[in-house]
Amino acid sequence: MNTTNKRQYLKDYQKPDYAIDSCLLYFKLHPSKTIVHATLHFTRNNFSNLNKASLVLNGEKIKLLKLELNNDILNSDQYEITDKELIIKNVPEKFILKTTVEINPEDNKSCEGLYLSQGIYCTQCEAESFRKITYFLDRPDVMTLYTVEIEADEEKFPLLLSNGDCIEKKSLPGGLHYAKWTDPFKKPSYLFALVAGDMGCVTDHFTTMSGRDVKLEVFAPHGKQDRSLHAMKSLKESMLWDEVTYGLEYDLNQYMIVSIDDFNMGAMENKGLNVFNSKLVLADEQTATDNDFHNIQSVVGHEYFHNWSGNRVTCRNWFELSLKEGLTVFRDQEFSGDMTNAVVQRIRDVDALRSRQFSEDDSPNAHAVRPESCLAVDNFYTATIYEKGAEIIRMLQTLISRAGFKKGLALYFKRHDGQAVTIDDFIQAMTDSNNIDLSEFKLWYSQAGTPVVTVTENYDAIKKIYTLKLNQTCPLTQSEKTNESFHKKPFYIPLKFGLMTPLGQEIKTENHLLILDSANKIWTFNNILEKPILSLNRNFSAPVKINHDLSYENILSLIKFDTDPFNRREYASKMLLSEIKKLINCFQKNEPLIPNSDIISALGVILNDSQLDPHVKSLMLNLPSDRILIQSEDLLDPKAFSAARISLATSFVDHYSSDILDLYTYHHKLNSIGDRALKNELLHYMTVSKFKNIDLILKNQYLESKNMTDIINALSNLASYESDFSLIAIEDFYTKWSNDSVVFNKLLQVIASATGFKNTFQRVLELTNKKAFDKNNPNNLYALHRVFGDNFLHFHEKSGQPYTWFADEIIRIDQFNPQVAARLANCFSLTKKLGSDLKIKSISEINRILSFSKLSENTKEILEKYITD
Ligand code: BES
Ligand code: ZN
Repeated sequence: MNTTNKRQYLKDYQKPDYAIDSCLLYFKLHPSKTIVHATLHFTRNNFSNLNKASLVLNGEKIKLLKLELNNDILNSDQYEITDKELIIKNVPEKFILKTTVEINPEDNKSCEGLYLSQGIYCTQCEAESFRKITYFLDRPDVMTLYTVEIEADEEKFPLLLSNGDCIEKKSLPGGLHYAKWTDPFKKPSYLFALVAGDMGCVTDHFTTMSGRDVKLEVFAPHGKQDRSLHAMKSLKESMLWDEVTYGLEYDLNQYMIVSIDDFNMGAMENKGLNVFNSKLVLADEQTATDNDFHNIQSVVGHEYFHNWSGNRVTCRNWFELSLKEGLTVFRDQEFSGDMTNAVVQRIRDVDALRSRQFSEDDSPNAHAVRPESCLAVDNFYTATIYEKGAEIIRMLQTLISRAGFKKGLALYFKRHDGQAVTIDDFIQAMTDSNNIDLSEFKLWYSQAGTPVVTVTENYDAIKKIYTLKLNQTCPLTQSEKTNESFHKKPFYIPLKFGLMTPLGQEIKTENHLLILDSANKIWTFNNILEKPILSLNRNFSAPVKINHDLSYENILSLIKFDTDPFNRREYASKMLLSEIKKLINCFQKNEPLIPNSDIISALGVILNDSQLDPHVKSLMLNLPSDRILIQSEDLLDPKAFSAARISLATSFVDHYSSDILDLYTYHHKLNSIGDRALKNELLHYMTVSKFKNIDLILKNQYLESKNMTDIINALSNLASYESDFSLIAIEDFYTKWSNDSVVFNKLLQVIASATGFKNTFQRVLELTNKKAFDKNNPNNLYALHRVFGDNFLHFHEKSGQPYTWFADEIIRIDQFNPQVAARLANCFSLTKKLGSDLKIKSISEINRILSFSKLSENTKEILEKYITD
C-alpha cells in the first residue's frame, strides 16, 4: 500500500494515544545490513478514547524481520505494514513490543536516519528520520528514556557513541566490541544519536556552577583534531555564558561534538552528542576565515543552548518549531554579541534577516512563524521560523526588559521541564511572570509578512510642538490572498527611537519606546526647541520596513551623530540603497549613470571618520547586494544592479583614491578582525572600480597573506577581475587545497559567485568534473550549486541554459537527498520577477521537475508555489 503524504494542519493536533516509557535499542552495525532490535514499553494514555485499540507506528525504508508483543511472535494477520507505517491490531493497555529491523546505511545518501559518512556511522533524526532507524511513535511529544547498546568491528570502529553516559564497554568474540549507553533524561526520538568510527579527539572539561565536572570531547578526523580547538573553546564559553546569563547549567557528565563531512544542515543538538557539519567545527588560521571562526562560535553556542531551549523543554509538534529554534537563535545571537562586538553582531543579524527572511516574506513561500499547515516538515527550517522567530523573542525582551525576560524564561523552564509544549505555553510563562497582556503581541506568530511603517512628521515652530504620526500596513501573502475571509490585524510593534538636533544632540523625551499597536497612531512632543531629526527603530527593535522621507542633510546628521550606532549604519545603508536604485533606473532608461556627489562625499565622511570602529565602518561602506535590491524592484535585472554598484564604487574610489589606498595599507598592517573586514571591503571597492594598481595589490595579498580571510578575499576579487594572475591563483588554490574538503568548498564558492568572469557557468560545469568534487555531498552542492543559483548575473543568464542544468541536477539530487534538492529549488523563487523570456524558460524548467514522477514532497511543495499565481 502506498500512502502519499497529506497536508498536515496545526488545528488537527491530537495527543498521542500511547506513551513509550522506555526504549532499549541494540544495534549490530554493518554497512549494508545493520540490525536494530528495539524493546519498547507502551502504556495507553488515559485521555485516549480509542475504541479500537490499534497501535500505529511510524517506519520508513526499514525491513521488518521480527515482531513480538509481550513475548508472543506476531504473525502477518495481526499487523499491517505500509511504506510509512506499522499498524498492530488489538493491543492491550500496557505491553512490551519487540521489533527487529534491517537497514542499509551504506546505500543511504540522504544524510537522514543511520548513514555512513567517510567510513563513520552517524545518525540524523530531526525532524522525522528516527522512523528510518526503527518503528516508533516518531513525534516530539512522545518522550522516552533510552538505553542504547552498540556492537561493531573493534578495529574499524573503536568509538561507539550515543546519548548520555557510557555504562559498559567490552570486547566480544570475532573482532567485535560492544558499548552500552543510558540517557537519564526523557527525550523525543528526534534527539537520539549514534556515532561509530575511528576519529581523533580533543578533550577538556568544565566545572559547572554547582561544582559538577563535565568531560568535553570534540571528535574529528585523525590529524585534524587540533583544528577543533576553537570549537572546544566556544563550547566552554557557551556553558559559562548560559550559567551567568540565565542560570542554566549543563545536566550530564559528558558533552560530545562529532565533526561529519556529509551533513544536510549546520549542526544538530542531539542530547549529549551533537553532530556537526565539519565546516562548523574545523578551523585554524590557515584554513578558516574570520567568518568561519565566528560561525563556529555561534553554532556551537546554538546547539549547546538547545540543551535547555529544545531538549529539556521541547516542541509539542513541528508547527511549534520556532519555540525551540527562534528562542535558541535569539540566545546564540545574544551570546555572540557578548563574546564579540555587539554592534557588529546586531548589524550582521539584521542583514541576514533582511536578505533571507524579508525575501522569504516577499516570495510565494511566505509563511507565519507558527504556520497553519505544511506538506513536508523539513521545509519548515526556514529563515522565518528561525530568524523572524528570534526577532519576536527580542521584541518581547524589549517590552518586558531584560530582567523581566530572564524571569519569564526561568518560569518557562521550571514549569515545563521534561515536557513538549507550545508557543502559547511560552508566552503564558512570560505573561504570568511579568503581569502583562501579550494577546495582541502574539499576532506576530500567526500573521505572515513584513509590516511597513510609514512616518509622517510635523513641527510647529511657534508652539514648539513636534507631532509624529505612524501608520502600519502589511501586504497579504499569496496564501492569505486566496482566503477571502482573512483579515489582517495590526501588529504590536515596539519601536525604539530618539530625537536628535542637527548637530547631534539627543533631545530628552519621556521615554525611548513607541508602541504602534493600531493602524495609525499619533504622538506629540512638547517643548521641542528646534525641528528634530527622528531616529526610528533603533537597534532594529522591530522586524519591519520603515518608510521615512529624510532630507540629505538629516540623513547625513544621523550617519554622523546618531547615538545609536546601529542606526548610524542603518541610515548609511538607506542612503546607499536609494542612490543605487536611482542609478538602476538610469541604466534601465539608457541614461548615463552619474552618482550624486553629495552621496559620494557622505561616503568620504564615513571613510575618514577615525573614531569609527573599523568593522562598523566596513559595514557602513558596504553596498546593497542583489538579494536586497530585488526586494524593492519589480524586475530582476542583474546587469542594471551591477552597473549601478560599479558606477557608485568607481565614483567613490576616483574621489578618494589616496585615502582609500592609505587606509587599505594601514589596516593591512594591523591584524584584527575589524582591520581585515575594512581592508577587504576597500579591496573590493578598488577591484570593482578597476583601481590602477589593483592587479599588483590583489596578487600581493594573495601571495603574502598567512591567513585564510585575506587569501580568500584576494581570490574572490581576482575571480571578479579577470587578470593573468586570476587563473594562476585559482589553479594554485586548487593544488593546495583539493584534498581538504572544508577548504575546497571555499574555492567552489569563489567560482560560483564570481561575477567578473564571462563564463562563470562554464567554470561551474568544469568543477563538477574535478576529482575533488563529490556530487553527492551536501556541502559541495551548497557551495557550488546553491551559490551559483544565487549569482543573479550568471544564473539568470539570458540563454536560460543554467536553468536547464540546474533542473537536471535537482531531479538527480532529489532521488537520493530530497532535503538538499528542496533547498536548491529555492533558487527558482524569483521566477515571478523575471523578464518575460526568462520567466517562460524558468517556468518550463520548474514544470519539467514537477513532472518527474518520483519527485519528493519536499521539492514539490517548494516548486509548486513558484508557478501558481
Ligand atoms: N535542530 C537544528 C538542526 C536540524 C534542523 C537538523 C532540521 C535537521 C533538520 C539545529 O539546532 C540548527 O538549527 N542548526 C542550524 C544552525 C543554527 C546556528 C541556526 C543549521 O543547521 O543551520
Ligand atoms: Zn537549532
